[in-house]
Amino acid sequence: AQESENLMEVINTRLPKKLQGLLWLIGQKAQKEGYKAYAVGGFVRDLLLGVPNLDIDIVVEQDAISFAHKIVKYLGGEIKEYEKFGTATITLKDGRKIDFATARMEFYPFPAAMPEVEETTIKHDLYRRDFTINTLAFRLNSDRFGEFLDFFEGRKDLEQGNIKVLYNLSFVEDPTRIFRALRFESRYSFQMDEGTMSFLHNALENNVLQKLSGTRIMEQLQAIVSEPNPSVIFTRALELGIIDNIFGQCTKPQQLKKDLRKTVDSVQILQEKSIIEQKDVLLVYLLVLINSYPKKAFEIVLNDFNLEKGSRLIISNFFNGGLDRIERLKSSKHLDPSEIYDALNSLSIHCLCAMMALADSDLLKNRIFLYLEELQKVDVETTGNDLKKMGIEPGPIYSKIISRLRQQKLNGQIHTKDDELNYIKGLDLIERGR
Ligand code: CTP
Repeated sequence: AQESENLMEVINTRLPKKLQGLLWLIGQKAQKEGYKAYAVGGFVRDLLLGVPNLDIDIVVEQDAISFAHKIVKYLGGEIKEYEKFGTATITLKDGRKIDFATARMEFYPFPAAMPEVEETTIKHDLYRRDFTINTLAFRLNSDRFGEFLDFFEGRKDLEQGNIKVLYNLSFVEDPTRIFRALRFESRYSFQMDEGTMSFLHNALENNVLQKLSGTRIMEQLQAIVSEPNPSVIFTRALELGIIDNIFGQCTKPQQLKKDLRKTVDSVQILQEKSIIEQKDVLLVYLLVLINSYPKKAFEIVLNDFNLEKGSRLIISNFFNGGLDRIERLKSSKHLDPSEIYDALNSLSIHCLCAMMALADSDLLKNRIFLYLEELQKVDVETTGNDLKKMGIEPGPIYSKIISRLRQQKLNGQIHTKDDELNYIKGLDLIERGR
């Protein structure tokens, strides 16, 4: 048999000392208590790539839950178990999470020609995974700590930058892998190999994405916008027909590609200015995407994506009137700041960020940016109490006065609170409501 390679050196040089100690302790415990434990998946992939990865995934033969209980007794921290899946997660005192999963040997179209070796169970567990680069593992048991397991040429694909499925029906069986493939392609500058591409097309021809629930699609879209460059991933998804598979036929693909590129810039500018947060980004991309699809896409997102009421309202407002509100901002040469304020004031930051991305003129983009960065922050200092003290009867007149003050302030005609009070005094008595 081939001499097995040991990853000890990479482990010792690339992982923080504390983490090395942790893995070693788990291996000792496994050895002593009669389990077999393996570090697997993204953790090993990223170790070999030299990319930091905080999530540790461990596969255990025979029973991950009882093993995790022994580990948590030893290391402290909290444990959560998922009986149904045979998994457990430990959260250590420093916040680090370790996932334990029982090795699974389900029926899969395992290639008959592969010689069966002693590691049948772990091998089957790794075979049911998405891509060869995610099938890499190393032993934790202290007698063979660090021994590398690469049953499916995962390392070769890691070196060559291949995203390769392990069996033909992988995408059909789990369509979320379609999105995962694109994320890995973009994250590591890898590419699906020819076979994988043809399995992907085959899955799309069978409309596999329509079998996914809206919630699961949302999870995948969220994962995409958490990658460094979502627009590259969405563009690839568009080119491969993946987005059409969800939303119907794109009405203007070339325009959408441009819009996606501009979305990265808008999101980045507004994130740098702390005007939007990471949690807002998905909604911005959804608005940009829906904008290039027939009405059906809008309905799918509103009805099937399991969005919160607030998000549904934002999307609804954007396409029912929101987009039209900016017409004047596009065409009028001169506008007072208060007019820009009035046009944009009722729109959410997601809508404004999407509008900046969709804007076809610098004038429009600059006006939205001016609103977000300056105008929306302009505050009137006069309160209802001040108005009462001035002897003005409470009523709808109050909000009229406040918006007049805001208008004056936005246009730079008044500045301080004294200016505001003087301005009110100067208002016509009837206007003041007396
Ligand atoms: N996996 C899979 N099919 C899926 C999701 C996950 O086969 N649809 C497998 C992969 O082999 C993966 C492992 O489960 O390595 C754990 O998945 P995940 O926690 O998503 O981890 P990563 O591969 O590390 O992905 P990421 O780096 O984005 O967290």
